[in-house]
Amino acid sequence: MIDFHTHILPKMDDGSRGTEESLRMLREESSQGISAVVLTPHYYAEKETPEKFLKRREASGRRLSEVIDESGEKSSLPDLFLGAEVKVFSGISSLELLPELAIRGTRYILLEMPFEPWPESIFRELSGIKARGLHPVIAHLERYLQLQKRTDNIERLMNSDVLIQCNTEFFLQGFKGRKAFQLLKEDRIHLLGSDCHNLTSRPPNLGSALDLIRKKLGENSVERLMHRSKKVLS
Ligand SMILES: [Fe+2]
Repeated sequence: MIDFHTHILPKMDDGSRGTEESLRMLREESSQGISAVVLTPHYYAEKETPEKFLKRREASGRRLSEVIDESGEKSSLPDLFLGAEVKVFSGISSLELLPELAIRGTRYILLEMPFEPWPESIFRELSGIKARGLHPVIAHLERYLQLQKRTDNIERLMNSDVLIQCNTEFFLQGFKGRKAFQLLKEDRIHLLGSDCHNLTSRPPNLGSALDLIRKKLGENSVERLMHRSKKVLS
């Protein structure tokens, strides 16, 4: 399986604080049967230019690769794909370097939506992003459900030719998690991510979510997720 949303890249954001922590997180992913991990540090346009972010990301990725090589564990760790979790803002669709923020080697871009009721302009930005040949992947849909409750925004988003990523925590919250299983059953959740930041409060936990999905919905659901994940990275 592939973990599509992680903050494992060292010293990029509020995730991993260094290469040792990143290595331990990757070992944990591997022990849960995760074969590939997409590295998605936060990108906030109001804080940093894309040029500066890309330069930092390159250096961080290089440092992590060196440490993995030195560890001699490369073959037992997941494959890594550079990406970003890009916060949507007014004007994002015309950002020149936007394609560089997509998952490397693909046209899929992980987007964090604003944490407020979405204005009409947000949908225009999504259309603009698609017009540039990029495929939006909406990060942790579950985080927006409450905020958009009084609107038809979630329905509209789900019907707008985007991929939906949900976090494992959506599935791992007991009775409240029933909505997650319902959406997955209806094939309205396409990709999963642990959104891990460390090994303690927000650890890699895709393995536990997959066990529960397998138990509740059967192996077919896991296979469908696997198939979709591989297709995105191919
Ligand atoms: Fe995240």
